[in-house]
Amino acid sequence: MCTDNAGAMKARQAKESLYSRLGKEKKIGVFVDNLYESHKGNDQIGHMFKHVDRDRFVDNVVKFLVAGTGGANKYKGRNMKDVHSGMDITSSDFLAAGGDVQAVMKELKYGENEIQEVVCALVSFVPVVVTK
Ligand code: HEM
Repeated sequence: MCTDNAGAMKARQAKESLYSRLGKEKKIGVFVDNLYESHKGNDQIGHMFKHVDRDRFVDNVVKFLVAGTGGANKYKGRNMKDVHSGMDITSSDFLAAGGDVQAVMKELKYGENEIQEVVCALVSFVPVVVTK
């Protein structure tokens, strides 16, 4: 899905950044806040978020997404390998987390193109995040 559509995604991003189509920092904030709730309530991965501070998580993930989708680069957090090391994340955990992303984005009425672009961006981090 991601490789086949890489050209189309690139063309869309050249026309208007994903950052702008995601509704900029404000709506990305709503998205990530809902995502935290969704991850926490997810039977498969919820335990990993039990002791995660909500505000810190939301702030870091918003800045990471803003920077990665064409907004200002204010991300000062650790790299993705260090953040997720020791969590023993499996492919199945990744699918569960990706399912949350898609469900929350649908709920917020994002279009299929935007959902696909976010999911494909996440997939590109699988090699450093999925360690088990
Ligand atoms: C593959 C795509 C993924 C990306 C791009 C990503 C991105 C991020 C970012 C930007 C943060 C915030 C950095 C920080 O808190 O220091 C974070 C934190 C976190 N992520 Fe991920 N993540 C991914 C997948 C996953 C998966 C699959 C899980 C588990 C199922 C997961 C669990 C967590 C947890 C528990 C934290 C909080 C860490 C802490 O507060 O110390 N992530 N992630």
